[in-house]
Amino acid sequence: MEWNTLFLEKEGNIALLTINRPKALNALNPEVLTELGQAVDVITADDEIFVVILKGAGEKAFVAGADITAMKDMTALESRAFGILGQEVFKKLEYMPKPVIAAINGFALGGGCELAMACDIRVATEKSKFGQPEVGLGVTPGFAGTQRLPRLVGKGRAKELLYTADMISAADAHRIGLVNHVVAEDQLLEFCKSMAKRIATKGQIAVRLCKAAVDQGLEMDVDKSMAFEADIFALCFATSDQKEGMTAFVEKRKPNFIGK
Ligand code: HXC
Repeated sequence: MEWNTLFLEKEGNIALLTINRPKALNALNPEVLTELGQAVDVITADDEIFVVILKGAGEKAFVAGADITAMKDMTALESRAFGILGQEVFKKLEYMPKPVIAAINGFALGGGCELAMACDIRVATEKSKFGQPEVGLGVTPGFAGTQRLPRLVGKGRAKELLYTADMISAADAHRIGLVNHVVAEDQLLEFCKSMAKRIATKGQIAVRLCKAAVDQGLEMDVDKSMAFEADIFALCFATSDQKEGMTAFVEKRKPNFIGK
């Protein structure tokens, strides 16, 4: 599938999805959001893809936010539709069964920080910058940043970032748990690919079920989430990957998972 604002490459079982509007620091307009939703569908349906790395084109930014030029003259109703479009696409990405690693090569601001938070794992470079600058534009975040940020970093830290619109360094983002790792700029892709490859050698049904257990379990009360985990765990025992994984351990060899 051809897109105007994205490109998708495959390396073995790893997909590299790039948001490609470098002149606008990969700002998210309705076209990018729509194409991102389509790309998630393509990736979900492609059995060869086990893990996704999401990045921004160019040297400066992952994504510098929703496109301010596109939003400037929106009516309240248009802005609501735009916000809901972003929320739905990000939720689709978050709930896609395959793990997504955000490779954050520069600014991740506003909608860019919100997009990174919808990914499973975030890796930044030393020059990456994070923030929710919306109140400086007279608006709130609209792609679920007010919801994902406190869940990731805690309510107090989230409120400080939201109220001040401060831009924080990668080191501070790491300290508060907004990113998993900070690496040198020239190491970013290799680091993410190495992690993706480690994930890709594991039992993919189990990896996908872990994702569902965390994301869906966190939305439930404790008793329901435990029952959900018990069902998911039991489901693994209906797969040949479970038989293979445990037999390989007993036979002291590497497992050969087939994703069934
Ligand atoms: C549209 C953007 C953009 C954005 C950058 N650009 N961010 N265009 N929307 N969010 C464009 C600039 O206008 C400029 O275009 C080009 O990208 C390069 O940016 P510069 O500002 O010249 O670069 P620099 O001086 O290095 O500053 C980088 C920056 C700054 C600090 C990241 O661009 C910036 O503050 N951007 C806005 C960040 C922001 O407020 N994001 C939150 C948006 S609100 P030209 O044509 O001049 O070269 C949001 C809400 C989400 O995300 C929810 C919606 C429902």
